[in-house]
Amino acid sequence: MQERLFLIGFMGTGKTTVGLALANELKYAFYDSDQEIVKREGMEISQLFASKGEAYFRQVEAAVLSELSRLPKSVITTGGGVVLKQANRQLMQQSGYVVALSASPEEIVRRVEQDRSRPLLQSESDLKERVTELMRKRAGLYDFANLTVATTDRSVESIIAEIKQNLS
Ligand code: S3P
Repeated sequence: MQERLFLIGFMGTGKTTVGLALANELKYAFYDSDQEIVKREGMEISQLFASKGEAYFRQVEAAVLSELSRLPKSVITTGGGVVLKQANRQLMQQSGYVVALSASPEEIVRRVEQDRSRPLLQSESDLKERVTELMRKRAGLYDFANLTVATTDRSVESIIAEIKQNLS
């Protein structure tokens, strides 16, 4: 069994929901890189982007990922942009089993609409256009994962079952 599992994927692909359920199922600890960043910086992600900018956020994100990558028996969920840095992709590949979650742009829009606090989507009037553009910019960056699982129109249970099947 893998010591560490990383969940990667675009915003709204279900990383937190699946990660929590998976950690529970495997009896592993659960860590979310965004939550760790909030704890460390003492402010919400949107505030951090606004006050210190995206480049600073990416630095903290890399530092947090490097700490989480040493923890035993853990499911680690990451922000959608963690794959932008090649060093992060390499670190995850070397320190655990990487699961990428995917979803259709329509489904992603439906999910992220529920929570407009994400800084990269905040000021956008046409959410669908923005999501499609960002997805295009990040095309291929999630492909290094050991496993890619589609989450559109699927239950959490069936997603977890597919991941578990591939782990054993
Ligand atoms: C980001 C995704 C967010 C968060 C930040 C930046 C991104 O996490 O890390 O807003 O660049 O895709 P989620 O993928 O959990 O929404």
